[in-house]
Amino acid sequence: LCPSSSNIKWHAGCVTKIQRSNLLRQKGCIVWFTGLSGSGKSSVACALETRLAALGKLAYVLDGDNVRHGLNSNLGFSAADRAENIRRVGEVAKLFADAGLVTLVSLISPYRSHRDAVRSSVGSPSFIEVFMDVPLEVCEQRDCKGLYRMARAGVIKGFTGIDDPYERPLRPEICLRAFDAGDGSAVSLHSMAQTVVDYLAQHGFLS
Ligand code: PPS
Repeated sequence: LCPSSSNIKWHAGCVTKIQRSNLLRQKGCIVWFTGLSGSGKSSVACALETRLAALGKLAYVLDGDNVRHGLNSNLGFSAADRAENIRRVGEVAKLFADAGLVTLVSLISPYRSHRDAVRSSVGSPSFIEVFMDVPLEVCEQRDCKGLYRMARAGVIKGFTGIDDPYERPLRPEICLRAFDAGDGSAVSLHSMAQTVVDYLAQHGFLS
């Protein structure tokens, strides 16, 4: 916290969150996608944003790779930098949710404590954790960006899942098994997005 924060007072807005919600006919919330690199976080978030737009609902994706081009361009991948990345994105997401948007966050966010800190700060039920449950072997086989290969070769150090930890959520609101286990259980992007839409509708966020 900045040392002068004791001299800063909160200025309440003139339009309430409820008024914004009535204008938009939806309730702001944060859908937080967590999972390994290559687990499909960004793809499902994108499909979900598209589906919500088709339903006339306003969503916005805060994607890790994108946010690291601007707001978080000074952060790397140490545990401290990842904590700050998640804290900043959490704060931005809170503002977007307060504005009334269905805010979709797509970050590896590998540490449970970092995710739980955002959850506590946002408060239930407006924080919806979506775990992209995809085994490391599958993500590594996909290797869409060639990063796993570089991590295995030691060119990238501290890569999540290889030589840096990923802590699975203990009680995510939604768990998406976003891979083909060879038993016919693979689900499409569309149906994973629909699972989240159904959750949002059932919990009153889309009205
Ligand atoms: S974190 O852990 O939440 O702060 O990471 P995030 O902001 O989501 O950024 C993840 C993307 O950065 C690329 N990348 C790495 N990921 C993990 N570990 C290391 N060391 C690393 N270096 C670069 C990678 O492309 C991640 O994108 P996704 O979309 O997850 O594949």
